[in-house]
Amino acid sequence: MDSRDIASTPPELITALKAAAHVLVFTGAGVSAESGIPTFRDALTGLWSRFDAEALATPEAFLKDPELVWGWYEWRRMQVLRSLPNPAHTAVADLARKVPELTVVTQNVDDLHERAGSDRVMHLHGSLQRPRCFDCGQSHPLPPGPPREPEGGRRLHPPLCTHCGGLVRPGIVWFGESLPEDVIAAAFAAARACDLLIAIGTSGLVQPAARLPWLARQAGATVVQVNPTATALDDDCTWSLRGAAGVIMPRLIETAFPSARC
Ligand code: OAD
Repeated sequence: MDSRDIASTPPELITALKAAAHVLVFTGAGVSAESGIPTFRDALTGLWSRFDAEALATPEAFLKDPELVWGWYEWRRMQVLRSLPNPAHTAVADLARKVPELTVVTQNVDDLHERAGSDRVMHLHGSLQRPRCFDCGQSHPLPPGPPREPEGGRRLHPPLCTHCGGLVRPGIVWFGESLPEDVIAAAFAAARACDLLIAIGTSGLVQPAARLPWLARQAGATVVQVNPTATALDDDCTWSLRGAAGVIMPRLIETAFPSARC
């Protein structure tokens, strides 16, 4: 096993965490896996091994079959509604109270960081909570959803925009679309400014998000990832902590900042 590829917490990481003035937490689908929300690329359970991304996650797919796409994202939104933040989300929110500055940048479209208590979360890939008009971009209130959806969702007609009558689409950044410029610029700036970046539960395969650890490392930050498996980010990391985020993250925070005991 590589010395950077470890299950236990290296003392140098604890020192770096305690000394950090600005921590950037960069998350992917793996941080929500223990909440019961499927990842994208894990074999068998990942969404993209069970569903066709081309038919569901592109603007062309929405135009071709809006009911299929809207129904699938409503199914995912219902999954999130029924889920709760897990100890990894809570540990990230706790950490923000222990370091001078903490930025959360997520690729996730769920709101579990917010529900765990993190504020000002940057959503690089949009949000299930923010539908908007496909034509005019006007934001649309969340439709009341059915409490249970069949696996994969059912066809649902998207609401119509109250402003222009166009079709309302999920507020997701689809394949082939650009990330919101202000959000990616702020995320890149945070990566260059942080002194410790913690990447949690991401395969590091989707650009430009996957550049964040590299940018931080180039700027001199310590970079650590939390993931049960090897990822495309391994070479950018000072340490790779192999394991589930819901186990590793609380342990990391508790080791660096032990809670007072009577
Ligand atoms: P992936 O599905 O590509 O990767 C999820 C990562 O989480 C994998 O490396 C797993 O090993 C890891 N993982 C699984 N369970 C974990 C656990 N309990 N604790 C920690 N890690 C765990 O998901 P992302 O990297 O987030 O884009 O994918 C990036 C983007 O690709 C997504 O935002 C999505 C997708 O297409 C959009 O929807 C726009």
